[in-house]
Amino acid sequence: MKTTGGTDDQKRRAGERAAELVADGDVVGLGTGSTAAHAIRAIGRRVDNGLDVRGIPTSFDARALARDAGIPLCSLDDADGVDLAIDGADQVDADLHAIKGGGAAHAREKVVDAAADRFVVVADPSKMTDALSRAVPIEVLPDAYAAVERDLDSLDGESTLRRAERKDGPVVTDNGNLVLDCDFGSIGDPGSLAATLSGVPGVVEHGLFVDLVDAVYVGTDDGVDVRRRD
Ligand code: A5P
Repeated sequence: MKTTGGTDDQKRRAGERAAELVADGDVVGLGTGSTAAHAIRAIGRRVDNGLDVRGIPTSFDARALARDAGIPLCSLDDADGVDLAIDGADQVDADLHAIKGGGAAHAREKVVDAAADRFVVVADPSKMTDALSRAVPIEVLPDAYAAVERDLDSLDGESTLRRAERKDGPVVTDNGNLVLDCDFGSIGDPGSLAATLSGVPGVVEHGLFVDLVDAVYVGTDDGVDVRRRD
């Protein structure tokens, strides 16, 4: 369930500005999606010009793009820590809580983004909202899918198995799991819902990113609007 709003120029401005935050010697989390891709390409250009960084990709696609861009890669195992993560989002609220997982990469994204000293979201204006309301992507173990669906139903969530577009059957994540997109309507208390979802057996990871985002770089038609967490 990718978001469709925003222009490529807006995304590029956000990604390129965030890429300027990377400092020599940094370990950088490399996010997934069309906006983070602009940051990866911009970091690659800086590597061409001598910047010394190592990237930790958050998905198959981010890894492929980073390799093409010439960014040296490492894993969380190899690095002492992550200095900065730059990643996209599907929706960000006024408190900078976010919904991610439109590309089904949110499990690895959360591990890398949460490990970072600083986590910066890159977005276009269509992602910004007062209150989160998009369906929450939930990665589930294939064997647990029906049981998780029942649990979500009892939480008043309306879940839909995410289906592949050019393959019969469901989307299978980079980790070999399925994705349920669960509509809870307007989410009044993201922290409470996040804790509840984390407690459902069979849920590998959900796309609510609560108290993780340090800043959002919103690309506009003529610049970048930076919003920081209080
Ligand atoms: C990947 O699973 C997502 O979390 C993406 O980061 C999110 O969908 C944003 O992607 P776009 O930048 O392509 O909108």
